[in-house]
Amino acid sequence: MSHKILILPGDGIGPEIVAEAVKVLEHLRDRRGLQVELEHALVGGAAVDATGTPLPEETLALARAADAVLLGAVGGPRWEGLERERRPERGLLGLRSALGLFANLRPALLYPQLAQASTLKAEVVAGLDLMIVRELTGGIYFGRPRGIRTLENGEREGFNTLVYRESEIERIGRVAFETARRRHHRLCSVDKANVLECSELWREVMTRLGEAYPDVELSHMYVDNATMQLVRAPKQFDVMVTTNMFGDILSDCAAMLTGSIGMLPSASLNAEGRGMYEPIHGSAPDIAGRGIANPLATILSVAMLLRHSLGRPDLAGAVEQAVARVLDRGLRTPDIATAGTRQVGTAEMGDAVVAALDEFEHTDTGGRT
Ligand code: IPM
Ligand code: MG
Repeated sequence: MSHKILILPGDGIGPEIVAEAVKVLEHLRDRRGLQVELEHALVGGAAVDATGTPLPEETLALARAADAVLLGAVGGPRWEGLERERRPERGLLGLRSALGLFANLRPALLYPQLAQASTLKAEVVAGLDLMIVRELTGGIYFGRPRGIRTLENGEREGFNTLVYRESEIERIGRVAFETARRRHHRLCSVDKANVLECSELWREVMTRLGEAYPDVELSHMYVDNATMQLVRAPKQFDVMVTTNMFGDILSDCAAMLTGSIGMLPSASLNAEGRGMYEPIHGSAPDIAGRGIANPLATILSVAMLLRHSLGRPDLAGAVEQAVARVLDRGLRTPDIATAGTRQVGTAEMGDAVVAALDEFEHTDTGGRT
């Protein structure tokens, strides 16, 4: 059976990095017999320019029909002045919501070759391997009511709603416990239960759920402390589970531990295991079109796609090994360059990964993502 993959390059560096990931998919199709059909569509600012809306009906229909979606990035200064409903970010949030992609997996894995590229001391980050499980379709991102209203005295007031149902907490909790089971059996739930009722319920539900997973060691941490611990001693964590907004913030922080945000992939899964895969970095308009963006986060997102939506851990492992091999050889895009390495551009990096793929048997490496 052939798998349908929808490719959504998006904005900024999105098209450049996605092109390299597509090379990898096409190579696996042409040389390893992976049965995939690739379709392309517009999202974000590119879709606003072409159709007036960041998530055209056609794109949404293709996404619903696909087995998996590979997305680059959305947004840029060009569209910042638009009203909220037409901003590129709405395209991304609309996809997450419409496809029910509530479980966002964001691994922060330090390639040993990049220990020197981190702004943290090498001994603090060497061997780092943690997974953030972020709730992605609820919380303050989607809660209602929301808006900006004018009070009687003429002053304006902005408001959003932080809301989680027990069932929403439970389903993301299950994904997190299951993830911990496949790793080192430790789960840290991050909340703000000392201040927020919503977090109080979150903690209660996680604790109750923990009884069904006696083999997983559950701990709780307030988000302010968790942020500090992430830069103080990040290796204490195995899996972290948290809300939509806390996960947004913590995952950028965790990404930087690994040397560059340009290295980290992500998977956003729904209840059926179908998913959308994207690098966790943004559209980087400042370097768009210059051919210097790091395509590895997007290529590693293809590995997650192969593992989680296509049931091909063997090919996922091959892609991850190919990336490691290219790093071993000293190839670096500018964001991860250190003394003694060879700087390459986006396309050269993608080509090197494809070439390295040819050197491997496909073995399931039990990849950590
Ligand atoms: C992310 C991004 C998005 C988010 C933006 C682009 C809407 O920061 O995926 O982390 O806030 O979720
Ligand atoms: Mg973010």
